Amino acid sequence: MRDLERTLVSRERIAERVGELGERIARDLETDLARNGLSAESGHVVLIPIMTGAIVFVADLIRRMPLKLSLEVVTVSSYPGQSTESRGARLRGDLPRNLAGKHVLVVDDILDSGQTLGVMKEVIVAQGPASLRICVLLRKPESRRVLHVEADYVGFDIPDEFVVGYGLDFDGYYRNHPEIATLRKPSA
Ligand code: IMP
Ligand code: MG
Repeated sequence: MRDLERTLVSRERIAERVGELGERIARDLETDLARNGLSAESGHVVLIPIMTGAIVFVADLIRRMPLKLSLEVVTVSSYPGQSTESRGARLRGDLPRNLAGKHVLVVDDILDSGQTLGVMKEVIVAQGPASLRICVLLRKPESRRVLHVEADYVGFDIPDEFVVGYGLDFDGYYRNHPEIATLRKPSA
């Protein structure tokens, strides 16, 4: 696509890393479940992908997680319109209920200012889950954080650049681009 500048993470590297992450997360969750006397088939695992950015990532990730799980989608918007700077996180619509006693994994495309995941953590913890983990495909440098949030699983650490593709958008576009790419600066 014309507006894309250069590839930061290729589709091969994404596929390989997502496979590793899925398998490792599934193993960790199984260990957690076993501690509660539950099996991988108990159905106590809930994945919460944050729409719309996590849509491609979570679709690939869950197919590398061989255990019984359910999905509860939430929508958070933080980049209205054509801005490439965060304007804070806002939850839209309902949150999943009945997370008490469940092993919850929040999945997002990228950890940037931390506001999105900060909000999510707060509302989920309030429901008393058995465990709560955060998985992001990408993480920008710590200096970007407005809110201190740690991700338990990170696909790739990337520099402080605006990226699109594999679910990430600019003004709603480029989510379907199969790689993580930087955006060409608009010429003056
Ligand atoms: P945070 O709340 O600032 O951590 O931002 C997280 C959300 O902002 C992500 O879920 C993305 O939707 C969006 N975001 C942050 N950085 C980028 C980027 O470089 N490209 C596209 N979206 C981004
Ligand atoms: Mg997002």
